[in-house]
Amino acid sequence: MADKLRGRLLVHESAEALSLAAAAAVSDVAQQCAAARGRFTLCLAGGDTPRLLYQLLAQQHSEGPDAGAGIPWEQTHIFWGDERFVPADDPRSNQRMVREALLDHLRVAPAGVFPIPTTLPDPQQAAAAYEATLRAEFAPPAGDAQLPLLADGWPRFDLMLLGLGADGHTASLFPRSPTLRERTRWVVAAHSSADPSVRISLSLPVLNHSARIYVLVAGAAKAVALRRAATGQTDPELTPAAGLRPVDGELIWWVDTAAAGSLG
Ligand code: 6PG
Repeated sequence: MADKLRGRLLVHESAEALSLAAAAAVSDVAQQCAAARGRFTLCLAGGDTPRLLYQLLAQQHSEGPDAGAGIPWEQTHIFWGDERFVPADDPRSNQRMVREALLDHLRVAPAGVFPIPTTLPDPQQAAAAYEATLRAEFAPPAGDAQLPLLADGWPRFDLMLLGLGADGHTASLFPRSPTLRERTRWVVAAHSSADPSVRISLSLPVLNHSARIYVLVAGAAKAVALRRAATGQTDPELTPAAGLRPVDGELIWWVDTAAAGSLG
């Protein structure tokens, strides 16, 4: 019996093709949100897979016949879904990856750029500081309650970009981690078996209150984790991405054929 898929699966023949298609979709969402509310809140994934997507988003803005198309950066507020607890200039830093692939190439400054702080002595302090930043950014301005910035008291990102680890982790929510059971805090300090081991991550309820979740998955090494996550076959304790269940939003798995395997 075919596995029941949660969300939509969009399969492309290569990582390049999926990045091109995702870049077009991200720009469309950005333009819709900016036109509707004068604001687009974008939460970025770390790791290697989204790098090409970010480069393409930067190019849309500054090169080619449709330069100036793409994301309306002057109305865009940029956040990170997770961070390695290393200095911002460390080669493993997600903040550094985004600056090199995207931010350093924009001719217009985004309305807001909110990296996760990693200069504080303690990751718990960093998580609390980032949560305070998010609360300040998502608290509806006085008299502006019609802005749907919160949903059930959680921040409602217009677009949440995520990746998928071969072990089924997403953001920095790793298998069997106590952070998977967090239902109050927006941001948590996490420990992983990956390097670097200390991480800061948005909690699962924050991910699931997004208006749109796009998960970017490329390569055969991710095929088993993708099947488990996208079909909800396993316990989210073992495959955290299986816990991606938007409360009132859209979930799309942007994958290449190698990762899709028999799902595609
Ligand atoms: C990180 C990411 C993490 C990533 C997956 C996939 O900080 O590493 O946020 O969740 O998305 O580990 O990473 P790759 O894209 O490098 O395979």
